[in-house]
Amino acid sequence: MTAYDALKDSLTANQSSWLITGVAGFIGSNLLERLLTLGQNVTGLDNFATGHHHNFDKVREVVSAKQWSRFSFIEGDISNLDSCREACHGVDYVLHQAALGSVPRSLADPITTNESNITGFLNMLVAARDAKVRRFVYAASSSTYGDHPGLPKVEERIGNPLSPYAVTKLVNEHYAQVFARCYDFKTIGLRYFNIFGRRQDPNGAYAAVIPKWVAAMIGNHEVFINGDGETSRDFCYIDNAVQANLLAATSENPEATDQVYNIAVGDRTTLNQLFSKIREILAQSYPHLNETAPTYRDFRAGDVRHSLADIGKARELLGYEPSHNIDQGLAEAMSWYIDDLAGSEAPLM
Ligand SMILES: NC(=O)c1ccc[n+]([C@@H]2O[C@H](COP(=O)([O-])OP(=O)(O)OC[C@H]3O[C@@H](n4cnc5c(N)ncnc54)[C@H](O)[C@@H]3O)[C@@H](O)[C@H]2O)c1
Repeated sequence: MTAYDALKDSLTANQSSWLITGVAGFIGSNLLERLLTLGQNVTGLDNFATGHHHNFDKVREVVSAKQWSRFSFIEGDISNLDSCREACHGVDYVLHQAALGSVPRSLADPITTNESNITGFLNMLVAARDAKVRRFVYAASSSTYGDHPGLPKVEERIGNPLSPYAVTKLVNEHYAQVFARCYDFKTIGLRYFNIFGRRQDPNGAYAAVIPKWVAAMIGNHEVFINGDGETSRDFCYIDNAVQANLLAATSENPEATDQVYNIAVGDRTTLNQLFSKIREILAQSYPHLNETAPTYRDFRAGDVRHSLADIGKARELLGYEPSHNIDQGLAEAMSWYIDDLAGSEAPLM
């Protein structure tokens, strides 16, 4: 039995109260789904900056009415301290996901990104500390490795940030460490590496690569690759990220807190390989895609060239063991996207 299987059993037997910020978003709504299916009480906070009501509808479809009744939602902004305090009231564990993601968005509008990602983060730390929550787990980012050339990435060796977004995520880590040192407040940061899966938004200028490409292929639109396609990433399926959050929140290992962890698979895929993998899966339903080729354009500012995680620390201290590699994750994600996206747009042939 894995540490995660044991944890799921123990959570089912013992109800706790959780706060998920960014609950209407991709990762937040997947955390919501998992915690509700484990019988937990969940409060959610979101301002719908990039999250969607329809993510709640999707969760509601897969949990029972009783499980859904254990969810209470607060529409609010983490840049407002009172909203954070209200959300933290009576909570055991905080899973702080709310932030404005996307490197290009932060380059276009660093001030708005700063408001959510730094002011909002600090508000959440203060509110959670004052509410005496047991653990504060937060979404950190692989962007913190910045210009450090080393591969695989190990937690202790970071470079300089390459974008305003990366600055905000680095500052989060500093604040969390200072709250541990000055207030003995227990935090864990999860440096996510390109998380993907169901409910990741395919729309908008700042969509992540996998949902954007899937939507383009299903909709028979052009697929763009920024650069030569040899840029690589450690793509990590959403179930692995959910597992990491639950293990981090509940770990009783005294060494595990006040730390940051890489959350990934420990495997590297180039954009060219990713394109082929997605095309191969989708072509089973849309045979015309066998003929599709990507269009190459300029490299994107602020992007790191290669990313690959060493996940040894999360394995050792949290008992993290990814349940899905990229192929298993893509297979599940594609069937979800085919069901979800293949509406009127889909050119079924
Ligand atoms: N998806 C990834 O690959 C990835 C990688 C590294 C880090 N992260 C981090 O993980 C977290 C979740 O990302 P995601 O992919 O689910 O993105 P997402 O955009 O789907 O979700 C973010 C959620 O936060 C909400 N939000 C944003 N600003 C807010 C504010 N000021 N007040 C209240 N709610 C606010 C949004 O409305 C949205 O629902 C973010 O902190 C992101 O930086 C994600």
